[in-house]
Amino acid sequence: MNIEDLVIEDPERRIFRVHRSVMTSPEIFALERERIFDRNWLYIGHESEIENPGDYRRREVGGRPLIFIRGKDGVVRVFHNTCTHWGAKVCRLDQGNAASFQCFYHAWTFNNVGQLIAIPDAGGYPQDFNRPELALKSPPRVDNYRGLYFVSFNPAIEPLPDYLAGAKDYIDLILDQSEAGMRVVAGTQLYTVRANWKLMATNSLDTYHAPPLHTTYFSYMAKFKGLDYEAETNASAMRAGGHGRSLRNGHGTSESAPGGLARPIAHWHPMFGDAAKPEITRIRARIFERFSAERAQMMCDTFRLFLIYPNFVFHDIMAITIRYFEPVGPDAVRLTVYALAPKDESKDQLELRLNNFVSFLGPGGFAHPDDLEAIESCQDAFRSQEVEWSDFSKGMNRDPEVMDELPMRAFWRQWHAQMLGHERANQFDDPRSVEHGAAAGGK
Ligand SMILES: [Fe+2]
Repeated sequence: MNIEDLVIEDPERRIFRVHRSVMTSPEIFALERERIFDRNWLYIGHESEIENPGDYRRREVGGRPLIFIRGKDGVVRVFHNTCTHWGAKVCRLDQGNAASFQCFYHAWTFNNVGQLIAIPDAGGYPQDFNRPELALKSPPRVDNYRGLYFVSFNPAIEPLPDYLAGAKDYIDLILDQSEAGMRVVAGTQLYTVRANWKLMATNSLDTYHAPPLHTTYFSYMAKFKGLDYEAETNASAMRAGGHGRSLRNGHGTSESAPGGLARPIAHWHPMFGDAAKPEITRIRARIFERFSAERAQMMCDTFRLFLIYPNFVFHDIMAITIRYFEPVGPDAVRLTVYALAPKDESKDQLELRLNNFVSFLGPGGFAHPDDLEAIESCQDAFRSQEVEWSDFSKGMNRDPEVMDELPMRAFWRQWHAQMLGHERANQFDDPRSVEHGAAAGGK
């Protein structure tokens, strides 16, 4: 099938379809590596994960084994995790603190700023053997936005802030929640999912599935927390209102109307108990002092899922979680999830946050396993090749709400444009103008 025909959009007839071969084909997967993962900015980690000189995290990004490290000079760098001699991985632990890395193959040794500092039997090389050139290699572009680090294997890529486009304001919305700054909470959840990475991307933006799929969670809330399912867990409020937004360049968000699911950041809810009320009330008041009423309400009373194209997601909902996913084949993806919390958060408040996080999203949580089951089910069912299309048209007939599929369409448009060799989608990229205009016509 022609790449041109893999995504079909017809705003007049409210049609938006994606050909399912994009989730199964090895050829498409190989082309994605080249046109998506080798071309965009890809998230690697947060500065708080490597707070001290020598701290490092081993990461797999865009199909490359990398080391995300803070050097003895305090500078954050990214290195390819491969010895410049014959290629073995110089770092074989997931995380730690190191002054140097010694390759286990021939014992070439590199310090934590990447310089080659020792070679056994150095007499086997000439005096002027070029040690600087044999330092650990970095990806061509590494940059950060407010402590969130990204790498790109595309030397010509636009600057990170331009790439982030409308997503920047949403990152601010999260990072501004604490004056002391945010940190990644120790403890990472890792999953290998038998599904295409784009199923993970679209699931991560979707709330339409929450009431039918996450019934266990909602009934747990109702039964064990003594809450009224409809009124307190707000399943019906989630169904209506809010909006979907393209943030340009493939980034997008689904946002609730005020009064969505309870969140321990600044919105007290009976499930958090009376003891937590004073602190939550204080945090809330401070946010309202620091920001406009509209902004503060967004931070305290609404939730959002947002995706930074192609593979990095914030869930600013019951807790703030970061998830990023690394495709390993057309039908397999590795997912990493961790929580972000204010640096100055009290122990009790942090505990509430993490309980909220793992009870919904953890590997043993009441909801996240449903999501994995659902996307693996899609992937498995794609074996019925005769059923060719998936539908992403929800909300094209109205001003798209939180449970509509506008941000997924923004994702697919960018994906399709890049697969066709363009830098970015321009058609319908701004929902405020074109897609919304088209929708308004249908009202
Ligand atoms: Fe879900």
